[in-house]
Amino acid sequence: MSSSNVRAPKGTADMLPEVARAWEHVTRTAEAIFSRYGYQPIYTPIFEHTDVFVRGIGEATDIVGKEMYTFEDKGGRSITLRPEGTASVVRAALEHGLTVNGQGCKLYYSGPMFRYERPQAGRMRQFWQIGVEALGMAEPTIDAEVIVALMEFFAAVGIPRDRMRLLINSMGDERCRPAYREKVASFIRENASDLCEECVRRAETNPLRAFDCKNPGCASVMSRAPLLRDEMCDDCAAHYAAVKSLLDDVGVIYEEDTSLVRGLDYYTRTVFEVQAEGLGAQNAIGGGGRYDRLMEMYGGQPTPGLGFALGFERTLLAMRAAGIDVPVPPSAEVFVARVAPEVAGDAFAVVTRLREAGIAADMDHQGRSLKAQFKLADRLGARFVVIAGPDELAAGQVTVRDMASATESRVALADAARELGSRLHDR
Ligand code: HAM
Repeated sequence: MSSSNVRAPKGTADMLPEVARAWEHVTRTAEAIFSRYGYQPIYTPIFEHTDVFVRGIGEATDIVGKEMYTFEDKGGRSITLRPEGTASVVRAALEHGLTVNGQGCKLYYSGPMFRYERPQAGRMRQFWQIGVEALGMAEPTIDAEVIVALMEFFAAVGIPRDRMRLLINSMGDERCRPAYREKVASFIRENASDLCEECVRRAETNPLRAFDCKNPGCASVMSRAPLLRDEMCDDCAAHYAAVKSLLDDVGVIYEEDTSLVRGLDYYTRTVFEVQAEGLGAQNAIGGGGRYDRLMEMYGGQPTPGLGFALGFERTLLAMRAAGIDVPVPPSAEVFVARVAPEVAGDAFAVVTRLREAGIAADMDHQGRSLKAQFKLADRLGARFVVIAGPDELAAGQVTVRDMASATESRVALADAARELGSRLHDR
């Protein structure tokens, strides 16, 4: 094995303790908020039959066309590492009948996703998402609900509102979108000489994606393209107006962005994206929308649905750009120092009892001197050091040193856990 093979693959990152702690903090925050909105957890496999993503996300998307980790397993099946969570959640809901007889279900999930993209700041090949999906619900109140939940999450992790933009748009539905797509395709053909090759090709495959081209020349041409707003059917227009009015009612500030088309083909009607300041090109920290036809694409009954996913790496970048620190709990509240090697067993018994009593406690396992154990206690952030010396132990006691006041007292061994518990609690 060459040394380059013992490094993490390009576009992946090890979550070392500091970042792993941030991941746990944001997932706990998300769980607390989303469960308050009535969402329940779901975990689906990290890989699926390739067809789940091809049918759901769409063959003409960048994700399916260029970015999937697809391989044949030993049984000759085509398998793909999930590039996102929605297709899997809808597949699971159909498979287990979670929406039969018109019942709705609200689900949230978190975990790694895989896309073979060109890595850059905020763009990884393995990245981590937290998402929600609400299935079986067509009314605009649920569109407003998921948007409010997403914004509440970003506020709860501390990203200031004035550093984020909430963009919304409507993609129409199967009644008004086909004619609109055709209009955009004709517009692209008419303006082919001023557009990049990829956009010209998109006229035949996925014309609306041309709105998302990062090429400034294309963006300027596409700003003159026909708008769905002007072609939307009455039902879609009424649904979109209702979503906006509900957001207005609860004071959520948004911007309408007619060029917001998103990179997945399953979207219908409401789509939205949250962009954060200070992140460069990869500034979308979360996004989502409605996908009222997705369940049918898998052979299920017509079942409306919508949801969003937020990207952990970009959320963390946005938190750092806003100067927010993830709260760090002390590694140990109490450190048990053993004065001599022969009392290591007694120290171990004390540390075990403290942990059983719910106290974060630790001790040395590397034969440190007493002085070095105090240094370690300091580094771990311990508020008290329990000194287990042969003389005290012989008298059935330990010495407790308060690190802040540098005062010491003797405590009966049998009372140590209760005594420390109450002293920690009093602070
Ligand atoms: P998406 O916009 O493709 O939507 O991804 C959602 C979020 O995941 C993005 O806003 C971004 O923060 C993060 N993300 C995407 N790709 C990467 C990457 N390569 N590296 C780092 N972060 C990334 C979806 O995935 C849909 N499933 C959302 C949804 C749920 N729509 C309806 N329900």
